Amino acid sequence: MCRSSQYCRLPIFKIRVLTKAIYVVTDVKLIRKLQTHPKILFDPLYVLAAERLGGTSEERARDMRREQDADRTKLKSTIGRTHMRLNHFLKPGPSLDALLNGVIRNTVKELKPVGSTKLFEWTQYIVTIVGSETIYGPRNPFRDNPLLEQAFWDYEASIPLLMLNAFPTFLASKGVRARNLLRQAFSEYFSEGGASSASDLIRANHAANREHGVSNNDQGGFELITCIGLLVNTPPTLFWILYHIYSNPELLSEIRHELLAAAENGEVDLKQLPSRCALLYSVFQEVLRCHASSLSTRIVVEDVILDDGMLLKKGSAVHMPSSVLHSKQSYWNAPVNSFDPFRFMAKDGLQQDVCTDSTAFRPFGGGATLCPGRHFARGEILGMAVLIIARFDIVPLDGQWPLPKEYEGTMTTTVLPPRDDIDVSFIRNRDPGLGDLQLVVGA
Ligand code: HEM
Repeated sequence: MCRSSQYCRLPIFKIRVLTKAIYVVTDVKLIRKLQTHPKILFDPLYVLAAERLGGTSEERARDMRREQDADRTKLKSTIGRTHMRLNHFLKPGPSLDALLNGVIRNTVKELKPVGSTKLFEWTQYIVTIVGSETIYGPRNPFRDNPLLEQAFWDYEASIPLLMLNAFPTFLASKGVRARNLLRQAFSEYFSEGGASSASDLIRANHAANREHGVSNNDQGGFELITCIGLLVNTPPTLFWILYHIYSNPELLSEIRHELLAAAENGEVDLKQLPSRCALLYSVFQEVLRCHASSLSTRIVVEDVILDDGMLLKKGSAVHMPSSVLHSKQSYWNAPVNSFDPFRFMAKDGLQQDVCTDSTAFRPFGGGATLCPGRHFARGEILGMAVLIIARFDIVPLDGQWPLPKEYEGTMTTTVLPPRDDIDVSFIRNRDPGLGDLQLVVGA
């Protein structure tokens, strides 16, 4: 989607792909209406994703469709209940605190000096290990089988072809192989009792699935979809944060000072970070503003007539692209075309009026499918960033930090990854105070 297209100045416009209409909405008032509209839903895509991305059995997919048709409120369906559990265990509270403590513990364990690595590949590696260990526990399948990490990224790259579902065994053979390998690994994880030492979320999911007769194989498939949420957007977000900070020595120095000032007895509280380390938090949000590109797709399940008389036909798709809103100047007070690390800073103790309408900033989507992982994602990404920034210098091997272009050919990734990677080394920072700074999750 071209962010500067003249069509993006319209509140809504239609594009045609073969026989299907897609409506693209770029007006925040209209988005507020449509993202909660009872006839414009994400629901038709859930079972499709379970079948095509999770490899769910025909029998289970039939049951899920039946449940969905019988219960529009979704309170009793497999998908609806899973959703409620995600929201419950990932909202601020004791379960989230336990997860964030796990993130800190696992990141500290994994962080080591590295002579030469590719920065984006490295973020994919560390997020896969730390995220999966935190959510799935010590018996998480990624820990035991290093081939699974590559399989996951092969699978992720094949998602557009898997969703298209046109001769997948020929056209998406790598993706199908990777999907089967991952599903098998998760199925064995459940069969062998791996969930007993997992997070509250996975234990609750497993117990509920067993109670409703979902096979370990189908549960394995569901976990691939959980892993898309868990693993896909965090590496590019962490990559861009590290890129923008380390490529700007003054910014790096200011953020390190901020961390030292926030520390009490050598400890920084992750929960206090947004207020105590406002510059780092501003960089995090600016990364999401500049690099997030979620489409927020919905399907029109019955004809809808908008206030201005425009007809949205049943069966068509609606997109509410965040990248267009994030770069529409009329919604933002400061110029939108450059990366401004200070944009989201609090001013005089008050939150600066950054955008003219808060709906214009929607890296985590909105409405019924607002990302349930947003609190975890924020804590995980900021926590990892703090530990890296305090403990390591990241040095590009050829001395340059060229700004990589974004890779736009991805379907699942909201935060666009870099098109070209950067060769770097990680060197331990021996600065007393900073080099051994501890991160904690406060009360
Ligand atoms: C920087 C990190 C992340 C970003 C930018 C992000 C963004 C998004 C966006 C844009 C959506 C779709 C919202 C819509 O359609 O309106 C979404 C959905 C979702 N996200 Fe995230 N996400 C992130 C991390 C996570 C994490 C860590 C998890 C899990 C622990 C997660 C779990 C999910 C799930 C399960 C959904 C589907 C919600 C539904 O079906 O209703 N996300 N996310």
